[in-house]
Amino acid sequence: MTTVRHAPPSVPLPAFDVEQARRDFPLLQTTVRGKPLVYLDNAATSQKPRSVIARTEQYYATENANVHRGVYELSERATAAYEDAREKARAFLHAAAPREIVFVRGTTEAINLVASSFGRKELRAGDEVLITAMEHHSNIVPWQLICAERGAVLRVAPMNKRGELLMDEFARLLSPKTKLVAVAHVSNSLGTINPVAEIVRLAHERGAAVLVDGAQAAPHGPVDVRALGVDFYTVSGHKMFGPTGIGLLYGTAERLDALPPYQGGGDMIKTVTFAKTTYAEPPAKFEAGTPNIAGAVGLGAAIDYLRGLDWDAVQAHERDLLSYATARLGALPEVTLVGTAAHKASVVSFTVQGVHAHDVGTIVDQEGVAIRTGHHCTQPVMDFFAVPATARASFAFYNTRADVDTLVSAVRKVTKVFAG
Ligand SMILES: Cc1ncc(COP(=O)(O)O)c(C=O)c1O
Repeated sequence: MTTVRHAPPSVPLPAFDVEQARRDFPLLQTTVRGKPLVYLDNAATSQKPRSVIARTEQYYATENANVHRGVYELSERATAAYEDAREKARAFLHAAAPREIVFVRGTTEAINLVASSFGRKELRAGDEVLITAMEHHSNIVPWQLICAERGAVLRVAPMNKRGELLMDEFARLLSPKTKLVAVAHVSNSLGTINPVAEIVRLAHERGAAVLVDGAQAAPHGPVDVRALGVDFYTVSGHKMFGPTGIGLLYGTAERLDALPPYQGGGDMIKTVTFAKTTYAEPPAKFEAGTPNIAGAVGLGAAIDYLRGLDWDAVQAHERDLLSYATARLGALPEVTLVGTAAHKASVVSFTVQGVHAHDVGTIVDQEGVAIRTGHHCTQPVMDFFAVPATARASFAFYNTRADVDTLVSAVRKVTKVFAG
């Protein structure tokens, strides 16, 4: 994925043709409240390129049938489209085989699947699961639920005031009791990029499995799960320019083979009698019922789109957006940046003195600027920084410096409204 760092101000403007990229996204051509839309809520969900919209329509118009079941031509076509999307996902994540890719609803479902299946099989009373202080609720609550059920203990590795994981503390919290480490690749509310390869190395030394929540990493570039050495990796299609309601769980073949099923139903079985059921091999074992076929096909198209981008240029462009937004927002006297890690993705969280984040969001919306405000499903992060909420601008490759300028003038208006 993109490693977006603060760039020095002298970095030349990147060669990425952002205007051409923007033309691929119909929604970016629209207006809201009579102003051109400035979409800066990409960490919540991303906009979709025409190719994803067209591929989804084409699927419904020419290939729609249930998968894996019919012997007729149309069902074979739908199955081929679905399995072709799985192969695209495999290549995108650099997994060894398509059987290591499970289609799920998104990161939330992927983590719940692992928490439930791994937890039921591996967690005993007194065992530990280690997460970090910057996790999204979806990488906290499923672990709380399964730990309570199994009598296991949830530990939390702390971070510093920049929003960086304290690696010494993390290493100290690892013990033979630690059965699984679950960590965000990129924090959604702070932008911090965690040192995943190092985390995996330390965890594996102690015999713990590692799940990486890649929801905020995959939109910034292809991920190499084998180079990272993770046991499980999760992705949400809608955050990486694909449809909603579809995502990926990567698990090594060895791990997925060993896990019990998550849900029971059609398609995940080998044989069923009232006395006994045997299960299909992964990934079918974890895909009970009719899957989101059109979503998977659309996600395949999003992956095709991403693979067509020049990632060196995209990374330079995102670095530039991050450093420009950090410098311009940081220069406003009323603004405090929340999350200033040395290694960050293009996410800028901030507070405006004396103004609730929701008021910031409402006022900048009048200027056509869409940002997220609130706790971003990371209430413990808000507690740590002692703020009720932040405003968050999160950038995709299709954003521009002009978008940042519009945001900054809108935030200036916020401070004027509240000063007056
Ligand atoms: C870091 C992180 N993890 C998990 C999630 C949950 O993703 P989803 O709602 O797509 O399941 C999000 C969504 O914002 C996220 O940012």
